[in-house]
This record gives sequence, structure tokens and C-alpha cells, in this order.
Amino acid sequence: MVDTRRLEQLLREKRSPARPVGRGARSAIAQSYGASAPAGRAPGRDDALRAAWAALPEITPPPARGHGTGAAGTVAALGHGPVAESFDLLRAQLLQALRTRGWRSIGITAPVRGCGASFVSLALARSFARLDNVRAALLDLDLETGALAARLGAAPEGHISDLIAGDLSAAEYLCRMGRNLALGLTAPFPEGATTLFHNDALSQTLGEIAQEYSPDVILCDLPPLLTEDSTLAALPSLDGVLIVADGTRTQARDLSECERLLQDRTQLLGVVLNRGFDTVAARRAQH
Ligand SMILES: Nc1ncnc2c1ncn2[C@@H]1O[C@H](COP(=O)(O)OP(=O)(O)O)[C@@H](O)[C@H]1O
Ligand SMILES: [Mg+2]
Repeated sequence: MVDTRRLEQLLREKRSPARPVGRGARSAIAQSYGASAPAGRAPGRDDALRAAWAALPEITPPPARGHGTGAAGTVAALGHGPVAESFDLLRAQLLQALRTRGWRSIGITAPVRGCGASFVSLALARSFARLDNVRAALLDLDLETGALAARLGAAPEGHISDLIAGDLSAAEYLCRMGRNLALGLTAPFPEGATTLFHNDALSQTLGEIAQEYSPDVILCDLPPLLTEDSTLAALPSLDGVLIVADGTRTQARDLSECERLLQDRTQLLGVVLNRGFDTVAARRAQH
């Protein structure tokens, strides 16, 4: 399901110096990473973090009912079984890469809408949250759809653009699912919010979340790469990106074009093949 060749290559390259960072905000984030690294934690830091997490308002996922594509079915499919297991494998690879390279923020995008970027974002977030010793955050950066909230059966009134623009703090905006998954959900935003990514605002927001909550990973559910300019603008704020290919329709040339767009903006961490089993079934049906 996941092509991890890129991740493995990045891990092999781990002794090479980190890529240059040209932006003040990114340096600030790097500093906050260092400040929150376990070895450097002051004794009171753990208590402060626990209190900060506990103070986030908690939402509960919809009750698991069957395996349809509605909110309950999707969330049910992500909690256990083969789908959950394949995401646990991807999680293990990602954790190793993040820890080896000192990275934290991962974008999840796809060539076009409907490939499953939000599905994969949520599945990965749930997978990280199953680990007791890991804290994860998931931000819905597909501002105009607000798809993650609907998927979780939540109906936020606020817009994540307020968090990114700095009008609301992370403590005022984020909520929590379970003990260790922070969520930045959003109501669908009218057009225009995407210009937010064209400055340092997203880097600053990621830095604030890193500083205040010290998550091991911040997953960012992004709009599609080939059709939305805002995705391109968000990339330089992220340490790396996963591309979700839809096994029933994504073509090799779509992936090449995505790779080209990522170049010099962020690292490609890997390609996740979604609906791969459907492709196999479809081919079998044709023969
Ligand atoms: N592997 C999958 N199994 C079941 N449903 C899926 C799967 N991948 C995507 N979907 C469903 O397909 C629809 C589109 O997926 P979504 O994640 O919203 O795509 P994107 O975020 O790339 O636009 C959603 O209803 C989602 O729940
Ligand atoms: Mg989406």
C-alpha cells in the first residue's frame, strides 16, 4: 500500500547535513523542537505539557456502525483490522524518519480531489494516537471543504484561518480526541482564505503548536496538489509530504507532475496507494 523507497533513502541519508533553512520562522520552529526534545525537558515541562493537553476541549468520534463511507463507517474502518494495520506500518516508517531527521510536520496531499488524502490523514492520525508514548496533531488545511470535521461527526463553528492568521491561539482553537491527538478542525471557509499560506503564517502556527504541545508529529491534511495553488504555498512550511495515489485512477504522469512541484519546496516522503485493492479487483473483473 505504501511505497517507502523514498523514506528508506532519506533514512540512509541521515548523516548528511539537514537541508538549509532560509526562513526566520523555520529557525524558530527548529529551536522550539530542540527546546521540547525529551533530553532537554525541564522536570516541570512534562507536567505543563500534560496540563496543556488535558485543557484542550475533548470531542468523541461517532460510534462505530458498520463499514460504509459515512462518518461512522470511515472512522470505524480506521480503528482496527487490515486498514488500521497497514497504517500502523506506515506510521512506524514515518516515526523513524521524523526522529532520525528531527522533523515534525507532514503534509498529506493527492494529485486531485477524491483520491483519499483526508482519509489517509485521519487514518494516520488515529494510528499515531494508538501509541501511548506519542502525541500527534492533525490540522485540516483544506480550508474550503472542512472535510475532516464532517468525517469525525464534528461541527466546528470556527475557521482554522483564525489560528493560522494568529487571531486565535492554539489553546483557544485546538480540540482533542482521546488523550494524545490534538485536532485543528474547521468549518468550510469561503474562498480567499488560501492566500494565508503565502506568508510565514503557517510556519508560525506550526511553531506555536510545537512549542505549546510538543507533538511528535503534526499531520496537515492539504488540498490537492495539481489543482490548488494554496497547496504549493503551504509546502515550504512543511518538513515533508506524502502523496496519496488513487489506485483506480491516478496515472504515473500525475505522480511525476506532483514530484516536480514538490522539488525545492519540501521533501517527498512517499506515495501511499489508496484503493489499491479495488484496482486489483477491477482488473480481475475485466479478464
Ligand atoms: N480506502 C478507502 N476506503 C473507504 N473509503 C475511502 C477510502 N479512500 C477514500 N474513501 C472515501 O472517498 C471519499 C473521498 O476521499 P477523501 O479522503 O475525502 O479524498 P481527498 O481528501 O483526497 O479529496 C470520502 O468519502 C472517503 O471517505
Ligand atoms: Mg481532503
